[in-house]
Formats: sequence, C-alpha cells, structure tokens
Amino acid sequence: MKILVTGGAGYIGSHTVVELFAAGHTPVIVDDLSNSHEWIIDRIAEISGKKPLFYKGDCTDMKFLSDVFVKESSIDGAIHFAAFKAVGESIEKPLEYYRNNINSLLTLLDVAVENNMHNIVFSSSATVYGEPESNPITEDAPRQEATCPYGNTKSIAEDILRDTTVAYPQIHAIALRYFNPIGAHPSGRIGELPNGVPNNLVPYVTQAAAGKRDELTVFGDDYATPDGTCMRDFIHVVDLAQAHIRTLEYLQEQSKNAKHYDYINIGTGTGTSVLDLLTTFKKVNKIAVPYKIGPRRAGDIKKCWANATKAKKLLNWQAKLTVADALKDAWRWEQSL
Ligand code: NAD
Ligand code: WQD
Repeated sequence: MKILVTGGAGYIGSHTVVELFAAGHTPVIVDDLSNSHEWIIDRIAEISGKKPLFYKGDCTDMKFLSDVFVKESSIDGAIHFAAFKAVGESIEKPLEYYRNNINSLLTLLDVAVENNMHNIVFSSSATVYGEPESNPITEDAPRQEATCPYGNTKSIAEDILRDTTVAYPQIHAIALRYFNPIGAHPSGRIGELPNGVPNNLVPYVTQAAAGKRDELTVFGDDYATPDGTCMRDFIHVVDLAQAHIRTLEYLQEQSKNAKHYDYINIGTGTGTSVLDLLTTFKKVNKIAVPYKIGPRRAGDIKKCWANATKAKKLLNWQAKLTVADALKDAWRWEQSL
C-alpha cells in the first residue's frame, strides 16, 4: 500500500515509516519539520535501505496537501501524526494548538474526500481518559474533560473522525489511543528528540544519566500506589509503530466490514511505577540516574494502564518488547546524540 504519513519525520512517525518499509509498503512523508529535522529522512533510509518520498510542508495548507495527492496518485491510506504535543505549551498557546492540531486533521479529511482515499489511522492518546476510575482501562471507559488544550485537541479530533465517517461512509478511520511511548529504534539511529528541557520522563532520565541534566525530579512519592510514585503503561515505540501497520492492514482486509470509526488502546497492559522504571534503567544500562523526590506535578494522573485486548482481538497486535528493551534502546540513542 502507498501510505501518506503526516508528521513522518517525528518521533513516532519515523519509527512507523521504518516499519512500513519493513512490511513492504510505500510511505510518503509529509512534514513541515516544525519539530523534527530533514536528516531523520536520511536515517530512515539508512535503516530501511530505501529513501522515503518526502514532501516538506504544512498539512494545514490545503493546496500543498492536495498537490501531494496529485503528484502521488493512488494513495491508499494515511497515518496522521502531525500535531503539536507539549501539554504545558498548549496551555500557554491554545490557539496555536487548536489551529495546528484541528486544522491539519480537517485538511486531511477534505483531501481524503476529494481524492477518494478510504483509510485513516489517527494518533490519539490515553490522555482522553483523564484519571480513570479503574485500571486497566478499556475503551468503554468514559472520556473525561481534558485538563489542557492539547488533550482537548485529541478528544475533538476523535469526534471529528466519528462524525465525518458518518457523512462520508467511504472513509474508515481508527483512532489509536497511545499510552506512554518510550524507547528508540534498536539501531540507535532514530529516537526521541525533545526540544529543550524534556517534559517526558524517559528523555529526562537518559539526559540525567548522561550528565546533561543535574538530576531527575520524581514528581511525588505520596500517591496511593505500591511505592508512592505514579504508574504508567510504557510502550516501546517500535511496538507502537507496528500497531499502525496492523491497523492499516486491518482496515484494508476488512474493507466494507469494519466499523466506519473505531478507537483502540495501544499499550502493553502493564503498569510500571516511576521508581520501578529507574530501577530497571540502572539494571539494564549499569548506570544510576541521579534523582530526588519533589512535589507532585499539577495535572498528573495517579495510575493509567491499558486493557489491550481490543487491539489483540481486532488487529492481532500485542506488544512484544519490554520496558527493559525500551530503556536499553533509549540509552543507546541518548549516547549517540
Ligand atoms: P513529534 O513532534 O516528534 O512528531 C510530530 C511531527 O509532526 C513532527 O515531525 C512535526 O514537525 C510534524 N508536524 C507538526 N505539525 C505539522 C503540520 N501542521 N504539518 C506538517 N507536519 C507537522 O511527536 P510524536 O511524539 O511523534 O507524536 C506523534 C503524534 O502522536 C502526535 O499527534 C502526538 O500528539 C501523538 N501522541 C504522542 C504521544 C507521545 O508521548 N509522544 C502520546 C500520545 C499521542
Ligand atoms: C510520566 C510519569 C510524571 C518527568 C504525557 C502527556 C500525555 C501523553 C504522554 C501525548 C508521571 C513522572 C515525569 C519528570 C517525573 N502525550 N515524571 N519526573 O504525564 O503520563 O503523559 O506524555 O498524548 O498526554 O500528558 O508522561 O512522561 O510526562 O510522565 O517524575 O521529570 O513520570 O509525574 O508520573 P505523562 P510523562
């Protein structure tokens, strides 16, 4: 299949392009490089032995995106990663977040309708569940009011997909609700590239281990969890990337039988605490992460992990890699920077 990958030079997108090649598909990357770099395209080529087609541009720009469809005739489906993703920044710059994250999806949908493209996989997030009533979280759990504009863009985008696929039943869309993606490609050639001080745990951990940051602050150890720190479902980015390929293949196989719109958790099914993650990092990489316990971070969820049985049942996908694998790969990547 020829697959449009918006945001394909980014963290999850680049790993997905590698997996698309590995599965015999033809990726077409669209990225404005607002949070990535052109050299990522070369790294993908180095890993895959093939250079992906790449169009630099903004996918809120209808003319630009339409032109890509004209140049690349017969695109079979799209994976839509392109979005801004920093929770804190979204509170400071809500208009930029709503404009970019919502308009890029609306533009893609317009172009999909115009060009008779049927299948769309969308990057949603477990953030739509907020603080869940219980864990593991099934897809039946209610979505909760978002605590930041970024999270709200994911809920709104899910609604846009639901409504659009009713009005245009030729379009099938699946929103993948990612839990916490971590790690890097085992080659050490692509990985996460945080901008400035990392907000997310694992890039902070690797930078602290490398001496680029003084020490990690663990945000709170007084939660009602076994060791007092928050628990998350950390999923290796390569497993996550493969889930996208399975989703596209499922949409293709099911064709008219699949629901027009669906949403699926993509996680491992296991909760790991922040302190457990630090212990595993030390064990597998033989290096301790300097850390101190600090106050809670506003807005943090106490516990959040997936029930991943829907992904297994519908997509025949389940995570194969462990948190230890991801932390080894993240450390290899950090050392290459
Ligand atoms: P990323 O920032 O590394 O990748 C996003 C890419 O999209 C970047 O390369 C950026 O340059 C590009 N982009 C942004 N706006 C664009 C636009 N208008 N036109 C063209 N390109 C544009 O982020 P990521 O971590 O790879 O996340 C990918 C997707 O997954 C995002 O939608 C994000 O919200 C979602 N997601 C990420 C996480 C996570 O923890 N990383 C968790 C859940 C969901
Ligand atoms: C994980 C745990 C922190 C940094 C965020 C977004 C979510 C999704 C993924 C896109 C928490 C703790 C962290 C640090 C720490 N993104 N921590 N010290 O908050 O689960 O999810 O990224 O959709 O929307 O909210 O991930 O990696 O920031 O934090 O103790 O320096 O690590 O308190 O318990 P989070 P995270």
